[in-house]
Amino acid sequence: MRRLLIVGNWKMHLNASQASLLVHRLQERIKIRRNIEVVLAPSMLVLQPLSLQIDRRKFRLASQNAYFHDEGAFTGEVSFTMLRELVHYGIVGHSERRHVFSEDLPMIRDKVAAAIRNEITPILCIGETKHERDEGETKQVLHDQLMTALSNLTAHEAGSIVIAYEPVWAIGHVAAKPSLIQTAVDYVRGYVRDVFNEKAAKNLRVLYGGDVAPEVVQGILSVPGVDGFLVGRSSLNYETFAGIVESAHRWQRGVPDGTPQRQAPGGTWPRDNEAGKEGE
Ligand code: 13P
Repeated sequence: MRRLLIVGNWKMHLNASQASLLVHRLQERIKIRRNIEVVLAPSMLVLQPLSLQIDRRKFRLASQNAYFHDEGAFTGEVSFTMLRELVHYGIVGHSERRHVFSEDLPMIRDKVAAAIRNEITPILCIGETKHERDEGETKQVLHDQLMTALSNLTAHEAGSIVIAYEPVWAIGHVAAKPSLIQTAVDYVRGYVRDVFNEKAAKNLRVLYGGDVAPEVVQGILSVPGVDGFLVGRSSLNYETFAGIVESAHRWQRGVPDGTPQRQAPGGTWPRDNEAGKEGE
């Protein structure tokens, strides 16, 4: 059985002391769970100090991005080579990189290859915009994103990466319905099965991302083939993020969430949408 993977993407939030405080709080609350891997993706600035602070039995680190060349005259960039041995994972092709920073398909392909070359597991983000969904183009978009990003990989490499299905319209807005996540996850595994092989499709870990909160965890984990979450806003609140990990742990033990999640004290990001509300 694949281990569950829960990744907190802190995006461009938290300076060094705020990040250190959040890790301190998370370490107090999150217990070591043999079947759940918890990964933190803070800003590039704090990866080094957090690598010294984290309890490695509880957390691993991911970069939110990195450049595909190993070194050279690329002002302002950090390479996967520099991140080697500092992070286990590297997020590649997040929709904010694609849409805000105009990263195109070939660049994302090269970043996936660079991560693997440097022994960092890529977390490849794919997903359609609202416009693309409305136009009925979701499968074509996922196909194009997968085809380019995975084009240079061996079957073994394809089976060892993580793919996060993050519909762009869901991010920071409203979680997708489990039935819709099912269709996308089936498509991803089917693609990897057809292009590589059965083993790669089976080994591949597929995450869901987009407005994940404790209330939606068990419903989405019940979708066959979902191996965990890529969490944005909820990962900045220690109570909420710990609540996501606990809910996943209860799901693994077959214990449904009984009582509603407590309101998080000291939360940085009050949720502005109704908890557990689902998208179209
Ligand atoms: P939210 O959880 O804030 O919707 O963000 C999702 C995301 O982009 C994670 O990478």
